[in-house]
Amino acid sequence: MSLALHPGYTAAEGVLTGDATPMLVLGIETTCDETAAAVVERAATGAGRILSDVVLSQINEHAAFGGVVPEIAARAHVEALDTIIDKAMGKAQLGFAALDGIAVAAGPGLIGGVLVGLTTAKAIALVTEKPLIAVNHLEAHALTARLTHATTFPYCLFLASGGHTQIIAVLGVGNYVRLGTTLDDAIGEAFDKTGKLLGLGYPGGPEVEKQATAGNAARFALPRPMLGRAHADFSLSGLKTALRLEAERIAPLGEEDVRDLCAAFQQSIVEVIADRVRMGLKAFQERHGRPTALVAAGGVAANDAVRQALQRVAVEASTALVVPPPQLCTDNGAMIAWAGAERLALGLTDTLEAAAHARWPLSEVRGVGTAEPAGKAVSAADQPASKAAGPQAAGTKGGSVRP
Ligand code: KG4
Ligand code: ZN
Repeated sequence: MSLALHPGYTAAEGVLTGDATPMLVLGIETTCDETAAAVVERAATGAGRILSDVVLSQINEHAAFGGVVPEIAARAHVEALDTIIDKAMGKAQLGFAALDGIAVAAGPGLIGGVLVGLTTAKAIALVTEKPLIAVNHLEAHALTARLTHATTFPYCLFLASGGHTQIIAVLGVGNYVRLGTTLDDAIGEAFDKTGKLLGLGYPGGPEVEKQATAGNAARFALPRPMLGRAHADFSLSGLKTALRLEAERIAPLGEEDVRDLCAAFQQSIVEVIADRVRMGLKAFQERHGRPTALVAAGGVAANDAVRQALQRVAVEASTALVVPPPQLCTDNGAMIAWAGAERLALGLTDTLEAAAHARWPLSEVRGVGTAEPAGKAVSAADQPASKAAGPQAAGTKGGSVRP
């Protein structure tokens, strides 16, 4: 089967051949608890435009378990994905024939959900004879600022979600250097666990933030793990334990106690984020020169106190803070479609043999001129933290699955 690349680009280097028609890419996201599809346009100039962006959150399905249950997530993706894709195409007022490529998040994530999205994308690519682009979910977060703010390379990304905490030098499409990561919990996960411990709703992040605004952070002396260390890594399990011990010490908890504990937790984590990102920017400058921006992504970037702290750090480092709008910071289809378009423009397409990955470090993402990565050793830090609930989470621990 021959797959037609967009006529404006050569397959090898993304060199323009004269056809300036914008590229249209469908993006599919099913790696965690959002079923999402979107259509994005990429002009030959590199400018992006979202034609549709449909996200169905599974929060209600998982709330009773206090985390994502992989089996429930995979089943929910199967039930919803066709409709979500239909809606995305309908809102964009396009038929499949108008597309230039089908992009899908092929990992890292909960493998059942990844397989649902990847299989669907392959079916569409096969039937329509359009190129498939197997996108790394983290790469999609990393490139979103180019869609929303036309941010140019190189820039420093702070990615903090329920599953990931990383500081990354984004040097080009498929060219990422990790400067820092968490040695244990992801930041969003720490917020979620705090919310759960204090009897707040799931996900805990927005609830903890709400409580924290009315609380007295000075009442509890919580640790600031890794503060002042020369590297840019995080460790949050000690903070979580310290918070639990304080809560147990003063139990039973009244409303004011919950507010004060949330405020103390948030203040500690904000100070840690500022310090770690400062170190990340320093490492960036030393290795890659001055970044064009500090970009924040992931659900935690929705937190006001976190954004303010990042703003201060960016000013100190004489750079600009770029934060995509909240609906594009959290998981969505537009970021997958956009990353797909960026890759397609460079001729970086995939075959129908593309694998689903539970783990897929950014260092193993293929760029222009890099060989297909071959099963390098993977560190625990490169996979999503176990955002999943309870014993079912064991199902997420496997390595790459090759269908
Ligand atoms: O990026 P995201 O939507 O999904 C993934 O984890 O991939 O991030 C969700 C995470 C959750 O852990 C949630 O508690 C956290 O982001 N979060 C927040 C806030 N809003 C969402 N954390 C702190 N403050 C918030 N306002
Ligand atoms: Zn994500």
